[in-house]
Amino acid sequence: MARIVILLGAPGAGKGTQAARLSKARSLPHVSTGDLLRDHKARGTPLGQQAKVVMDKGGLVSDALVLDMLAERVAAADCREGYVLDGFPRTDVQARALEQRLKPTDQVLVFELKVADESIVARAAGRLACRGCASTYNLNGAAPRKAGVCDACGGELYRRSDDEPAVVRERLRVYHEKTAPLVNFYRERGLLASLDGEQTPDAVFGRLDGLIPGKVKH
Ligand code: AP5
Repeated sequence: MARIVILLGAPGAGKGTQAARLSKARSLPHVSTGDLLRDHKARGTPLGQQAKVVMDKGGLVSDALVLDMLAERVAAADCREGYVLDGFPRTDVQARALEQRLKPTDQVLVFELKVADESIVARAAGRLACRGCASTYNLNGAAPRKAGVCDACGGELYRRSDDEPAVVRERLRVYHEKTAPLVNFYRERGLLASLDGEQTPDAVFGRLDGLIPGKVKH
């Protein structure tokens, strides 16, 4: 049996923060389609060049490209026991494609991180990400120990180009139109739990981890 954990939520809801913690606590790889796409962008691959145009405007990369990229990632040996999905699925097409590839024995757990749009805009304004390991920080409350340097790997911290206020507003619009309907998609299948994502990262993680069977000691 493989365990597939899906984190749903608006841009900046804390999916990456919680996926990284869960990945460590439950020894499951953290699969972030945003990080995979940013890696393609940084390497200048054909996929990265196509994705850059869309990502910089706050839109969604085409389902076909994302599905191919995801299929390749989750076919890797480290995903055999399961994985934590961050930023996927984002459309009805992606959710149905994922459903098709899962085995009946797979355990699927879906968590929605609920955060108000005003908080999302404030978080984006303070976010810094690491070029090396993709860890995230926030100048409002979760700053790195040394300015501009990642606590985890010593890498350079940068501001994501899609965290500009106008782009964040477009990402939120796209989220409400294309991704928020997946909350009902998974609720109807009895797979969804909604969490208050406005609480501290520790509090959100405590609740999230507590809802996953097979509690581990931290
Ligand atoms: P992606 O990288 O997935 O971006 P996103 O979904 O918009 O989410 P974010 O990474 O912005 O935020 P998050 O929810 O992970 O929050 P985080 O933990 O960082 O995608 C980027 C782009 O790639 C998309 O716009 C699209 O173009 C493309 N793309 C990706 N996947 C795709 C797909 N499947 N299909 C098509 N296109 C796709 O936290 C945010 C900030 O808040 C941080 O600074 C953090 O420190 C802070 N924070 C976290 N939790 C808390 C808390 N509880 N309280 C206070 N602050 C907190």
